[in-house]
Amino acid sequence: MTPLLTVENLRVSFPTRTGTIEAVRGVNFTLGKERLGIVGESGSGKSQTGRAIMGLTPGHARITADRLAFGDIDLLKASASQRRNLRGKRLAMILQDPKYSLNPVMPIGRQIMETLRTHERVSRSEARARALAMLEAVQIRDPERVFDLYPHEVSGGMGQRVMIAMMLVCGPELLIADEPTSALDVTVQLEVLAILDKLVSERGMGLIFISHDLRLVSSFCDRVLVMYAGKVVEEIEASKLSEAKHPYTQGLLNCLPQIAADRHPLPVLERQAEWKL
Ligand SMILES: Nc1ncnc2c1ncn2[C@@H]1O[C@H](COP(=O)(O)OP(=O)(O)OP(=O)(O)O)[C@@H](O)[C@H]1O
Ligand SMILES: [Mg+2]
Repeated sequence: MTPLLTVENLRVSFPTRTGTIEAVRGVNFTLGKERLGIVGESGSGKSQTGRAIMGLTPGHARITADRLAFGDIDLLKASASQRRNLRGKRLAMILQDPKYSLNPVMPIGRQIMETLRTHERVSRSEARARALAMLEAVQIRDPERVFDLYPHEVSGGMGQRVMIAMMLVCGPELLIADEPTSALDVTVQLEVLAILDKLVSERGMGLIFISHDLRLVSSFCDRVLVMYAGKVVEEIEASKLSEAKHPYTQGLLNCLPQIAADRHPLPVLERQAEWKL
């Protein structure tokens, strides 16, 4: 069976005045209808991997891959309009910073309705009802009120949930969630994760969950990719994370706080030049 997503030797680089920055350097993985976690330190290329799959890499960057396919669709050969049709409808990404991703001059509810009406033929009243239902599903207590607010009028955590609602309203087959719950408190975080979990199990959605939070990823995902300096250094079943072999992953695990153990001073994460090769 064709996997939902195939990524072979994906590379993303940015030419700059001082030389080329290689953000992603040969990433390989396939994804089925499952929850795949991507962890790794800041700057390791997690977001750029997600953006390349979505076709949201900045224009001046260079992308190459042996294969980058969504089902049978070759994303490298897809035209800009094919890409646009996929984005939002079949492929969606919750971007790391919702404040920059929402339109600042349009009320929130209208933005969600617009996403829906771009991809589906629905009446205004049906779009409104579905937008409100989606806001309620992401635990926005007073959806009617929030519907008419502008992005600067909501809190960071609400902005994040609005973004999640907007991305889920068309029922995508693949969702890339880039730190989707980092601005939420723990109880809301669990509620949002439960929504994502339901979509994976009920609708058979594929999920790529990007996070710094190793513990969250290991409890929520089926499989975890650990990235370091633009490469995947380890791929492991989430339940076997404690058996990780790569010294960088072991270092991350060693830094997790534990109730019974003394963690002072925290170990310094090792970085070795040969891991970058
Ligand atoms: N527009 C750009 N121009 C030049 N370099 C960029 C650009 N965007 C990202 N990069 C570089 O690409 C690398 C990977 O960035 P990326 O955003 O994928 O990191 P990340 O793993 O998502 O980090 P974080 O956990 O902080 O979100 C970084 O070294 C970054 O400096
Ligand atoms: Mg990022």
